[in-house]
Amino acid sequence: MSQDDEQATRRDFLYYATGGTGAVVVGAAVWPLVNQMNPSADVQALASIEIDISDIEPGTQITVKWLGKPVFIRRRTEREINLAREIEIAELPDNLGRNANVSGADADDKNRTLDEKGEWLVMMGVCTHLGCVPLGNGAGEFGGWFCPCHGSHYDTAGRIRKGPAPENLPVPLASFINDTTIKLG
Ligand code: FES
Repeated sequence: MSQDDEQATRRDFLYYATGGTGAVVVGAAVWPLVNQMNPSADVQALASIEIDISDIEPGTQITVKWLGKPVFIRRRTEREINLAREIEIAELPDNLGRNANVSGADADDKNRTLDEKGEWLVMMGVCTHLGCVPLGNGAGEFGGWFCPCHGSHYDTAGRIRKGPAPENLPVPLASFINDTTIKLG
């Protein structure tokens, strides 16, 4: 592992570890509605969280914990965007966008990202094969993410390209609140 990789991993871990506390603002508005229907209170309290993305440089990502699962937030480089956009949808194992914000859309790169330019990619960090957390920061044969459990390779848009995973990494409900804040849920 190179020094850069090591630093990136440590940074990922740091955000992951603090995701449930300082990095996250709990959406208070969900409380009155969910209180009676509830699963557990702590799970519902985090149904909506806000994340400060002002420190994420192009070519880096953070991992936050949301509803008990990791969520990858990556700011892609020009190269990553171009790589994701040059492939034909028909060549992809999974043709669907799997984006909760664009219901029913195909797996075109533009249907995967949070902004039109394609800089911001937000995805659940859970392999669609058996649920491991894929490695990021250019891992795998397609420069995106790699799940070493059984060898699933995802591209720079989080779409499955090779290996046993049947579907693209899902994009959760997400939106920009302002230039430096993303809301999940
Ligand atoms: S859980 Fe990811 S490849 Fe099996």
